[in-house]
Formats: sequence, structure tokens, C-alpha cells
Amino acid sequence: MSDSIAITSGKGGVGKTTFAVNLCIAFKKISKEVFLLDTDLGMANSHVLLGDNPTYTLADVLSGSKSVSEVIYKNKYGVNLISGGTASNNVLNIENKSRYSILNGIENHLLNFNSLKLIVDIAAGADDNALIFSMACDRVVVVIVGEPTSFIDSYALIKALFAKSSFKNYCIAVNQVDDDKHGKDLFKKFQSITSKFLDVNLYYVGSIKNSKKVSKSIIDREPITISEPKSEISQNFLKIAKNITETPTNEWGGLTFLSQKKRA
Ligand SMILES: Nc1ncnc2c1ncn2[C@@H]1O[C@H](COP(=O)(O)OP(=O)(O)O)[C@@H](O)[C@H]1O
Ligand SMILES: [Mg+2]
Repeated sequence: MSDSIAITSGKGGVGKTTFAVNLCIAFKKISKEVFLLDTDLGMANSHVLLGDNPTYTLADVLSGSKSVSEVIYKNKYGVNLISGGTASNNVLNIENKSRYSILNGIENHLLNFNSLKLIVDIAAGADDNALIFSMACDRVVVVIVGEPTSFIDSYALIKALFAKSSFKNYCIAVNQVDDDKHGKDLFKKFQSITSKFLDVNLYYVGSIKNSKKVSKSIIDREPITISEPKSEISQNFLKIAKNITETPTNEWGGLTFLSQKKRA
């Protein structure tokens, strides 16, 4: 079964990219092919966490010099990466037409693969890029941390996504917790606030501890799921990957990353 998962957050710096990268490694154990699309255009950094230095990025697709298929490459961990380009590229303010050409290009490329997972690292917040790329995915994971700003911004993001797409189902992952009980407690708190105002379903998919090992893995540019696959944190990423696949998907009438696959 092929599907796509958006990794989002209300505010930046909560660990979205760390999540996206480690989930990809975890999904390698479940799915034949894993793709990581970094849509944090102009601020892309998933390749940094993976210790990669991509030659071509979505910036080359947007400038018209490369096709989507030409910028996708398989990295040393077997993840197919599509980088979003860095600040030097003028890709921060793209128009709908460009977004849809990225969507179409990826969709066409993915037609060649079976049993794939597409993980999409989404920019923080609820601007058009974030909303449109999230809505193009079957599932949306919102990464939260135990801070009021994260709660408020995550609520605002879900509200904006719901208004635009009517997506009902959201996976919630809690980062930087003391232990899993702490994660569950924070989820319950977030759920009780959200359910007061929005008719959506939130699914707790797991938590990741606040750990020096994670920050070190970022500095070392080697995901913890690679350097310490047996650690509790890596096992949790695997659990989270499985839990995500057990949540219901969302559907809407618009363009998605895997529309053609689903019609076929
Ligand atoms: N579980 C964790 N434990 C400790 N530090 C973390 C953890 N997750 C993220 N961080 C820290 O937070 C920073 C931001 O993470 P990042 O994944 O880049 O966030 P985002 O993509 O949401 O902006 C990292 O550089 C890292 O130092
Ligand atoms: Mg990020």
C-alpha cells in the first residue's frame, strides 16, 4: 500500500525535520521504497540531518532547468530525497502554478514504484505552502511540544487545514518529553482544548524523549535511528511509524501526491 504523510507543526523548532528524517529510516523497515520530500522551500535542511549534500533541489525544478525525476536521488541510507533548496535560491514565495507542477512531477515519478511511503517535511505555520502540501497527503502528523506557544499554533494550523480541506483526522506526535506518560498527558491536554472548538479526530501516535542523543545526532549529521537503531528512541520511531499507518486517512477532491496511483 502506498501512502503519503505530511509532517507539520504550528511553530518552528519543535523537531519536525528530526521526526521526518528518523521516520523515513523507520519506514525503510516496513516499506519497499521511502521518499522524503522537503517542502520547507528555501529553508530546507532535512539533507543536513541526513549528512547529504544534494547537487540538485526543487529550486532547479522551479527555475525550469531540471525535472522532478532528475533531482530525486537515493542517499546512503536508501532514502529517496527531494531537497527543497536553501536560502540562496529564490524559492520562498512560489505561486500555485509552481506548487502544482511540483505535485504533478512527484506524482508522475512515483507512478514507477509500488509499496512506497512518501514523507513530506512541511514548513512551520499555516501559510499557503504548508497548507497545500499538507492537503496533498493522505495523513497529517502534527508535531507538538509541551509549550503553550506550540499548543496555540498547532491548534491554529489544524483549524486552517480543516477549514480549507475538511480533513478530519490528525496524528499527534509529542516531542521532547520526559517519558511516554508525559507525552500522553500533553496529548490529552491538547486534545481537550482542540475538541472544544473543532470537530476533528486526533490520534496519539507516540512521543520522543528530550535527549542529548538526539541533539548530538543532528550535530553529527547521522540520524539516531542509524547510529543507535536499538535505542529506546529509535524503537519509538518505529512504533510511531506503525501507529501512523493504523490511523484513518483523509480524502478530498483536490490534487494529491498519489492521485493517479489511487485511480489506477
Ligand atoms: N527529542 C529531542 N531531544 C533533544 N533535542 C531535540 C529533540 N528534537 C529536536 N531537538 C532540537 O530541536 C532543534 C530543532 O529541530 P528540527 O527538527 O530542526 O525542528 P523543526 O524542523 O521543527 O524546525 C534541533 O536542532 C535539536 O537540537
Ligand atoms: Mg525543519
